[in-house]
Amino acid sequence: MSLRWHILGAGNLGSLAGAALQRAGFDICHTGARHGAADASLHRHLIYPDGRQESCQWPGDTTGPITHLLIATKAQDTATALLPVLPRLRAAATLVRLQNGLGSLDGLPLPADCRIIEAISNSGAWRAGDTINVVAENPTWMGDGGAAALTPPDWFDALQPHWPALHWHVDMRRQQWLKLSVNAVINPLTALHDCPNGALCDDPALRAHAARLADEADQLLARLDPDWPNDTLVRALHLARATAQNTSSMRADYRAGRPTEIDYINGWLLRQAAPLALPMPAHAAIVAALH
Ligand SMILES: NC(=O)c1ccc[n+]([C@@H]2O[C@H](COP(=O)([O-])OP(=O)(O)OC[C@H]3O[C@@H](n4cnc5c(N)ncnc54)[C@H](OP(=O)(O)O)[C@@H]3O)[C@@H](O)[C@H]2O)c1
Repeated sequence: MSLRWHILGAGNLGSLAGAALQRAGFDICHTGARHGAADASLHRHLIYPDGRQESCQWPGDTTGPITHLLIATKAQDTATALLPVLPRLRAAATLVRLQNGLGSLDGLPLPADCRIIEAISNSGAWRAGDTINVVAENPTWMGDGGAAALTPPDWFDALQPHWPALHWHVDMRRQQWLKLSVNAVINPLTALHDCPNGALCDDPALRAHAARLADEADQLLARLDPDWPNDTLVRALHLARATAQNTSSMRADYRAGRPTEIDYINGWLLRQAAPLALPMPAHAAIVAALH
């Protein structure tokens, strides 16, 4: 029998991942839907940048055992979505956390024997009803989130040919920090000032604000990792220029009045800085402003 994946949060990224898992031949179902019809099957129609289209129909399963769980809710929804699902986890279950932002599993009563795989993606997608519009299929990295084996699990090898630019990373922590540090500059500034990413390069005041955020992030991350490259501003401006016309996810959420992932991006930095008594006034101010 084929290995079964449960998807918790079949939104933009969860659906993109689910489609890849399905192409790899895994059995897929969704779980934990919050709008009542949790057992109903879920339809997703994906439209890719090259015009390719793909239809997926995943049954709901709200009671069955779970061996492999893909978590793709927004970070701030993780606890609410995951806690009811935990009793269904089988021994040595695998959890793949596909989220930007860090710390969404902190403090949750996860079984000690589960294997947590961290995943971050540079892909872009947005949803209109059941349709997932994939803007770009960019690299996605997965790697162990604990002090675990350096080799990928067997299912990863089966999945890789079906998920464009999927890579295993032995140092996921570094990879996550590189992405988080850039997000901590671009996302809140573009949300607060309601501007596209490129404004950070073009507007001197925004650029100066970006420099303060980047500098504070570098000071913290260098304390946590002596090999930290201290180049957050360079990477953030490079990405802002390369995606000049794009709207960051935080800007989109903030504009729409939805909760943002700020507490798991800049808020995560503040939580790391607190025990070090390291002041991060620019991050504290922007978190407060976006709240
Ligand atoms: N979108 C992108 O292009 C992109 C790119 C890179 C990384 N990411 C990251 O990927 C993660 C997911 O983002 P996304 O854009 O895919 O978000 P999303 O489209 O909002 O999807 C989140 C899904 O989680 C579901 N959900 C929320 N609360 C739940 C609960 N309590 N129980 C069960 N399901 C629940 C939502 O259900 P409803 O449908 O009912 O709201 C939705 O289907 C984020 O960390 C984001 O930063 C996104």
